[in-house]
Amino acid sequence: MERKIILEMKNIEKSFPGVKALKNVDFSVAEGEVHALMGENGAGKSTLIKVLTGVYGKDSGDIMFQGKSINPKSTLEAQEEGISTIYQELNLSPFQTVYENIYLGREIKNKYGSLDRKQMRAGAKELLSDMGLHIDVDVPLRKYSTAIQQMVAIARAVSTKAKLVIMDEPTSSLDTKEVRVLFDVINRLKSQGIAIIFISHRLDEVFEICGHVTILKDGELVGDYSIEDLDQMKLVSLMIGREAVTLERKKDKYTFRDVDELVKMEDIHFETKLNGIGISIKKGEVLGLAGLLGSGRTELANVLFGEIRPDKGNIYWLDKKVSLKNPQMAIKLGMGFCTEDRKVEGIFPEMTVKENMTVALLPQISKHGIISNKKEEELTQYYIDKLRIKTPSMDQLIGNLSGGNQQKVLLARWMCMNPDLIIMDEPTRGIDVGAKSEIEDLIQELSSNGISILMISSEIEELERNCDRVYVMREGKELADLIEDDINSDLIMSTIASAGKVSSKEGGK
Ligand SMILES: Nc1ncnc2c1ncn2[C@@H]1O[C@H](COP(=O)(O)OP(=O)(O)OP(=O)(O)O)[C@@H](O)[C@H]1O
Ligand SMILES: [Mg+2]
Repeated sequence: MERKIILEMKNIEKSFPGVKALKNVDFSVAEGEVHALMGENGAGKSTLIKVLTGVYGKDSGDIMFQGKSINPKSTLEAQEEGISTIYQELNLSPFQTVYENIYLGREIKNKYGSLDRKQMRAGAKELLSDMGLHIDVDVPLRKYSTAIQQMVAIARAVSTKAKLVIMDEPTSSLDTKEVRVLFDVINRLKSQGIAIIFISHRLDEVFEICGHVTILKDGELVGDYSIEDLDQMKLVSLMIGREAVTLERKKDKYTFRDVDELVKMEDIHFETKLNGIGISIKKGEVLGLAGLLGSGRTELANVLFGEIRPDKGNIYWLDKKVSLKNPQMAIKLGMGFCTEDRKVEGIFPEMTVKENMTVALLPQISKHGIISNKKEEELTQYYIDKLRIKTPSMDQLIGNLSGGNQQKVLLARWMCMNPDLIIMDEPTRGIDVGAKSEIEDLIQELSSNGISILMISSEIEELERNCDRVYVMREGKELADLIEDDINSDLIMSTIASAGKVSSKEGGK
């Protein structure tokens, strides 16, 4: 089938102080095509999108859309041209209702000039049910899960009569079931001739949904490929500019039977979310929690970290019963928590990379309240190198780093505190394939140094590669406790889907 080009960007250049983010990049997309934009963290993907949609002005280059030259100065102008974007950071208004969000900035008015809420409600309902989503549109957006919020953002994008919809990492916070719903929506848009730019670090998704792939590396165009001409290894090699290695299962024998327990949670209840779950983690053990969104994984981690108080249940730290009233107490015991939502809980955007990395560490490296600058810098440089954090300097504001690189700084923050237990909620969310293997290696290094890890991940393969033991959860209960060969995606998936309880022969406990 011949491609009918709808968007053509030519010779795009964009610099930030100290960084040339886009160097002479060409990019074109055809009608009715799902086009992946791929590249490592910091390659320039989001910047290219922001230049296209008027968030950033470009230094030079041309943009042709639907046969005419455009130069939008804002997202609103881009929208008027027919380009709608769902950003990496959701830009909706959490305290307003679902329907208000869908019509944000282009509210429908009645003939008296006041808001026509009835029509907006009905319109929102229809848009969402077209996407197979039947929710109450009168509820404030923040009451819904990230996944549903994402769908609302998409409904909003579609409702603007967009000809091109851009999705910057739309699936990073969705679980497998929700990804299916999103893909249905994408296919529907595609069949209406709408073009889609799809950014994701999940390769299998790209191979499933995309027809074309454009690859960027260090701000430069590597090439534009039809998906049939690529396989996963080739795609990764092109992205990272060297031979790709397959990520492998790190451990297949369970070696923790005689090891001391670091922490044990017993019969934990919290509202309707946790219903009598218990877990234990040995010293140096990497324990995985698998389950769909809403299965209670994050709540369980929050209880352990003193973020929420359980209604019932006991927690033991080194066999001693503890009552964790707040995260400070958990940190004092020796826990670290790398959160899922870096925007809300994690980063201090107005502070530098160095400050963000060492903020929790200051009591340890300061002497009589004076921070050892040298030590702070040594540590920061160590992790910048180790995790290949892409930043012009450690004094760059973290808000200026690409999404994936911000995530790496957060990981480093907890790692450099040398805790006994690190809770990681979706640790490699938004992290590129190359860096993923480095983070996985680091997890194993921590584990062999006796540091325990509680790992929550929606990517089952990630749990499969890294964990000594995996608990499968649903509705706040444990469905399975798996070790060795039983840690495999097929069994985990079928356990999540079934109602029965499964356990490895000896269990890990
Ligand atoms: N506002 C800004 N100020 C300074 N530098 C920036 C700014 N925005 C992006 N950069 C830099 O431009 C480069 C490209 O960043 P960009 O966000 O486009 O990467 P990306 O490909 O989207 O990465 P990721 O996969 O991590 O989201 C990075 O080196 C980043 O640090
Ligand atoms: Mg990005």
